[in-house]
Amino acid sequence: MKSYKIAVIPGDGTGPEVVREGLKVLEAAAAKYNFSCETVNYDFGGERYLKTGEVLPASAIKELSGFDAIYLGAIGHPGVKPGILEKGILLTLRFSLEQYINLRPVRLYDSRFCPLKDKTPEQIDFVVVRENTEGLYKGIGEFKDKGTVDEIATQVSYNTRRGVERCLRYAFEYTRKRNKKKTLTLCGKTNVLTYAFDLWERTFHEVAKEYPDIKTDYAHVDATCMWMVKNPEWFDVIVTDNMFGDIITDLGAMIQGGMGIAAGGNINPEGVSMFEPIGGSAPKYTGKEVINPMAAICALAMLLSQLGEEKAASAVENSVIKIAREKLKSLAAGKMGYSTSQVGDLVVKNL
Ligand code: IPM
Ligand code: MN
Repeated sequence: MKSYKIAVIPGDGTGPEVVREGLKVLEAAAAKYNFSCETVNYDFGGERYLKTGEVLPASAIKELSGFDAIYLGAIGHPGVKPGILEKGILLTLRFSLEQYINLRPVRLYDSRFCPLKDKTPEQIDFVVVRENTEGLYKGIGEFKDKGTVDEIATQVSYNTRRGVERCLRYAFEYTRKRNKKKTLTLCGKTNVLTYAFDLWERTFHEVAKEYPDIKTDYAHVDATCMWMVKNPEWFDVIVTDNMFGDIITDLGAMIQGGMGIAAGGNINPEGVSMFEPIGGSAPKYTGKEVINPMAAICALAMLLSQLGEEKAASAVENSVIKIAREKLKSLAAGKMGYSTSQVGDLVVKNL
């Protein structure tokens, strides 16, 4: 029997509630598909930081790199200044573990959940491959004459040929493996960001030569937003930089039914990957048992797929689809018609 070691970081706010449901599903999937999981809990997050003043212990990266996967709830605490936990935990983990891909599927499970008029599940089914370690997130910049009327603040987008190329290669491979429309769209801004996206575009066309079976397309980021609303059915796989990827995947989450269902994976194809619901810690819903755990359960399905447990992964996703379609009144917190743990139980029962 295969056995996996999984690090669990429930984190802040509603993170622990949704992770708890995900772990319920993991246990059921393991029993059914004949593998076992050892989980180790890590208490990183706002509470720990407020108590100890430490965001991440020095040993964290080394320890976490010994796991087969990491399962994360949410990072962000109303009592901590924005940026400290996000940069100190989430971004540090992504960067140090070289999770250079942020993979975000945008899939509508039922027309009822879509805010766009007349869009069906067949029409909203694409994946965003977001570069996850460079760009504006690199943190390069400075203040000059801070606090004066002459102040200048710069923030540099840092793009390396190596970083861009490995992301693009992953996207081409992913598009091939996905085997749907076999179309990869580069989302950029070549008309304004004439250094960064020149590098992206040149590398895109070079790498494309190795993938003659994949159709390539290009869209500026503003147009991408427009098409995602108007004609989401045009997209198969979109590849883009860190900042644009951050923005368009929130739009993606909305057209697939909201933060209650949107999941993502921080992937290091050669190392340890980390899976999370992308909705954040939702402090106002904390402890109320009203948050939708489906995003966390979908993140768990992605984790299973990364482990190579494809059958279990599709079973979990299919169970989510069935419960969402047949039982849930809405995907939004407090409007599901069920509590957080009831939704988890329904998904388990349906596996
Ligand atoms: C996300 C989040 C993070 C990001 C924040 C919390 C740092 O918005 O995962 O999309 O910007 O990447
Ligand atoms: Mn985001």
